[in-house]
Amino acid sequence: MVNYIPLRFTIFISFSIAAASSFKFSTSHSPSSLPKATADDLISVLGPCSAASSLNPIVSKQIKSCLKFLVPFKPDKSKPELGRCSLRTGLCSGKIDAIERRSKFDEENSLVWWPPESVLELARLAVDSGGDSGSIQRTLDPKMIPVPDVERSSKDKCELTRTPYGRHFIAEEVNSYFEFLFHLIESRGPSVGLNVSLTRYDLFHGHLFLASESGRLGILFHAKEYPAYDKNVFPYNMGYCQRGSNVTYDDQMNLRNILWLAPLPSNTSPDWLAPGVLVVLDAHPDGIIYRDLIPDYVKCARTIYEDDLGTTAVDVNYLNVGAREPDYQLFIC
Ligand SMILES: *[C@@H]1O[C@H](CO)[C@@H](O)[C@H](O)[C@H]1NC(C)=O
Ligand SMILES: *[C@@H]1O[C@H](CO)[C@@H](O)[C@H](O)[C@H]1NC(C)=O
Repeated sequence: MVNYIPLRFTIFISFSIAAASSFKFSTSHSPSSLPKATADDLISVLGPCSAASSLNPIVSKQIKSCLKFLVPFKPDKSKPELGRCSLRTGLCSGKIDAIERRSKFDEENSLVWWPPESVLELARLAVDSGGDSGSIQRTLDPKMIPVPDVERSSKDKCELTRTPYGRHFIAEEVNSYFEFLFHLIESRGPSVGLNVSLTRYDLFHGHLFLASESGRLGILFHAKEYPAYDKNVFPYNMGYCQRGSNVTYDDQMNLRNILWLAPLPSNTSPDWLAPGVLVVLDAHPDGIIYRDLIPDYVKCARTIYEDDLGTTAVDVNYLNVGAREPDYQLFIC
């Protein structure tokens, strides 16, 4: 019924059907002494220094060499205490922050490091629940919103979402925060060599997950979802949703996995152990991410599995449903 074909499955099917395909992707060889990196290692590298220090230093260094941060990485940046007032001067630091003119760049960085309260609550819920995806799903408004036509997708019989309807988080601020992340990836991507557009062929979805070991909340975004068929560089038929694609298969495919991590709460106190992160995972074929975190049968698509990072709670879709003017709306499926 639903025509949602994620890139990884399509590639898998292509390989199964066309086993005799002459298309070859490169495989890299590694010294056998180096332990295989895991998705948990990746999450640890992006966690508090204490977690990162328990890793094999070579693995850790190689993972770091594949990280392209969209927001500067500040593992030990502590949460600013708002509303603290000095009796002596009569000034409140919270108020000073608010009136101080900060640049848009700083403003956006702070929003990733320390998101709004309702997003922090979700992050803490994820960890407190022991990584239970149901705890996140229960924060959704039960109202179902049908997914309308997206950039003439219905003409192509293309259904982009897992289900034909989506929902919103009850806390409106969470919805707008996730929308903000899509726009931030679009605006900052070029600084690391990733040009994305928020279209149905490129960046329109991410997978909200709870990390396996820590329960840390995150979203794995997949850009470049439907590259155009090209008999030389991308000889894969991906079905209806690929039709009309203007996404070219090139080196930017290496950068199609983008990871947001919420701040990490302590599970024993109200403290926070690490600020939020927004990073592009560079899967160039010489790197450890390509070698260890991308399954062999999707090497050419460079897809990292959300299931490898943890338990998926929902998909976050951000779709242009405007008939003439762009009109982006969020559908949590
Ligand atoms: C991204 O787009 C800009 C502006 O169109 C262009 O100058 C740049 O070369 C592009 N980057 C890549 C990696 O294609
Ligand atoms: C594809 O088309 C969209 C919408 O017209 C545009 O925003 C985007 O830049 C195009 N992408 C490429 C790679 O040409």
